[in-house]
Amino acid sequence: MAARRQILVVTGTGTGVGKTVLSALLVRRCVQTGRPVRAFKPLCSGGRDDAKALAAASGGAQTLDEINPWHFEAPLSPALAARLERRTVSLMQVAEHVRRHSTRSGLTLVEGAGGLLSPLTADGDNRDLILRLRAFPLIVASNRLGVIHDVRATLGSLPPSLRNRAPVVLMAPATADASTVRNARSLSDYHPADRIVEVPRVSEEIQSGAGSPSVALNRKLDQILRLLES
Ligand SMILES: Nc1ncnc2c1ncn2[C@@H]1O[C@H](COP(=O)(O)OP(=O)(O)OP(=O)(O)O)[C@@H](O)[C@H]1O
Ligand SMILES: [Mg+2]
Repeated sequence: MAARRQILVVTGTGTGVGKTVLSALLVRRCVQTGRPVRAFKPLCSGGRDDAKALAAASGGAQTLDEINPWHFEAPLSPALAARLERRTVSLMQVAEHVRRHSTRSGLTLVEGAGGLLSPLTADGDNRDLILRLRAFPLIVASNRLGVIHDVRATLGSLPPSLRNRAPVVLMAPATADASTVRNARSLSDYHPADRIVEVPRVSEEIQSGAGSPSVALNRKLDQILRLLES
């Protein structure tokens, strides 16, 4: 796989949709296949678990503070949690941190906070960060009833130049509903089918790195990584 420089912002339709699970899997896959990779969760609020998951996935190549330079107590959007602590972080500071520590070749993966339009800093949201970093967006969504709306609304909020190219990853929910097996097909009426990837449930062992992903899961991860190249 070519190791050209690529900045990816993992965002999605909202909070709790599987951004960290997918990000950690992608980082581990890069490490395993020898592709240079750096991971960031620049702003955490209500705990640093996401950053710790990325630190573990990176195999100790990065410190927690490099992955997550800003963290706030309140389990609110980072923008609001920062304001409660009378602290200010600007989009420019976030972008500078990511650029300074990004890899020259290979993948720089940045997990946003919440969904695409969720406030991130005092002066911007996740979409603003994508634009400032000239990054590629990856849209994560939970594969349940309502996801067609959620994904279409999110894609529709991206600039046209990014909209059709963005990979959409549907993460299997804890409990499937009647729509789960149909959503990828339904979404392909609105988005290129080859840019929609379904990721199954992943055990705690695999999420934490204690267990290895199956061949089938690695194929999905490779498919997602290839989409970032095209
Ligand atoms: N494919 C999956 N297999 C198993 N568990 C999953 C999967 N996707 C998500 N989960 C679980 O759903 C929960 C939310 O996932 P995750 O923390 O990755 O979401 P997130 O989008 O990063 O949330 P946040 O907005 O808080 O950063 C976690 O408990 C996670 O383990
Ligand atoms: Mg997360």
